[in-house]
Amino acid sequence: MRRLLGLGTGLIAILLIACGDAAEETPLPPPVPSTYHRDIAPLVQEKCGGCHVEGGIAPFPLQNYEQVFAMRGAIKASVKARIMPPWMPARDCTEYQQDRSLSDEQIALISRWVEEGGAEGDPVDEPTVPRVSQGGLSRADLTLAMPEAYSPTQSPDEYRCFVLDWPETATRYISGFRGNPGRPSIVHHVIAFLAKPDEVATYQALDDADPKPGYTCFGGPGLLGNTVSWIGSWVPGSGGMDYPDGTGIQVEPGSKIVLQVHYNLSSANAAADTTSVSVRLESSVQKVAIMQPWTNPSWRQSDAMLIPAGQADVRYRFSFDLVPLLSNVTRGVFVNGVPITVYSAGLHMHTLGSWGRMEIERKTGGTDCMLDIPRWDFHWQGSYAFAQPKVLTAGDRMAIECHWDNSLPMAQDVMWGEGTEDEMCLGTFYMTQ
Ligand code: HEC
Repeated sequence: MRRLLGLGTGLIAILLIACGDAAEETPLPPPVPSTYHRDIAPLVQEKCGGCHVEGGIAPFPLQNYEQVFAMRGAIKASVKARIMPPWMPARDCTEYQQDRSLSDEQIALISRWVEEGGAEGDPVDEPTVPRVSQGGLSRADLTLAMPEAYSPTQSPDEYRCFVLDWPETATRYISGFRGNPGRPSIVHHVIAFLAKPDEVATYQALDDADPKPGYTCFGGPGLLGNTVSWIGSWVPGSGGMDYPDGTGIQVEPGSKIVLQVHYNLSSANAAADTTSVSVRLESSVQKVAIMQPWTNPSWRQSDAMLIPAGQADVRYRFSFDLVPLLSNVTRGVFVNGVPITVYSAGLHMHTLGSWGRMEIERKTGGTDCMLDIPRWDFHWQGSYAFAQPKVLTAGDRMAIECHWDNSLPMAQDVMWGEGTEDEMCLGTFYMTQ
């Protein structure tokens, strides 16, 4: 019986392959051994090149056959485990632009090349035009740099905020953003916050109180909590991005930009860095956009978001219908009741975060996933632009859910705060009305 069954399954498999061959437009590639130049180099350039270059944030370059061959065991293990390239969102949530992750076929290709011995092949097989990641900032109208160089002193991580002057004398709209790390080997991420004219003094006081350039900051740019607006964020490997056509973030004359730079010294020594950001500017836009963090305001009060010591999965979830409240929470940029279009989402927790999720609870029933980070890594937080924007009308609820693991020995009770010892649970969206 077992043999018969085995035979039967084999026959079905053969039939399926035969059918598949006839129906498919592109036949399966012939089983020739894979080579570095033909199969691996283009993939590594596209998917690893932003970071694994000489002087990049990754600890070793992957720019030629010798370098890739020497690391092939670790490469196979890290791509199969989907640790590399760093790409946090779960694959079944929604589709994003500039998706850096590898497809199952690409992972299989890399594994096969390693298993077959890692042949070099012939350099003429390598595509002459290097494949680069899609996207990028199309126009840098203004570049704002840190006022003076800074050399981090804390290892491995230091978070520092710098206050940059905004030179424009009329209202402008930021329609694209890119971070330009001064020293790519130590700059792990950059977030640019907007200090509106009436907030500038608060940030300036923080800067003035710290004798060195800028001031220490961690969860956000200071004490203003969730009213703070972002103008953009950058992680290694990104060439920046244009915001959706016809949209932009409004910046009034007299504003300042607060740049948070996360320095990481795990693969390079401290050195002086002058990071800058470039923005694309418009004098008018069809739709004013905002990018600002959202959370449950009551979590920020005393011990409302207590994460008790010793617990391995502490969960907080909050959902709210923001459409009727828009004017209040955007300080008048949006009006109440008008539907919003959401173009991107980012999640923010600190180092105890274990997984997090943002979704829309539709008033018609069901949920629409925006972002699901099943293995939270504080080092790789970013903002993810949807392939298709999502619209919320009154009655739809935006939900944010965060989980923390506070079970390490010597754990302490943790609460909401901006410090390294505290936690937060915020969602950031780029949206228009
Ligand atoms: C966005 C930047 C970035 C991209 C893109 C990237 N890496 Fe990495 N890689 C890093 C950093 C940084 C480290 C050091 C460990 C860490 O911080 O996670 C690393 C570590 C590694 C390691 C060592 C892992 C270990 O077990 O210590 C391997 C292997 C690796 N990368 C392979 C790749 C391959 C292959 C690709 C492309 C398919 C890739 N990486 C894409 C940034 C990147």
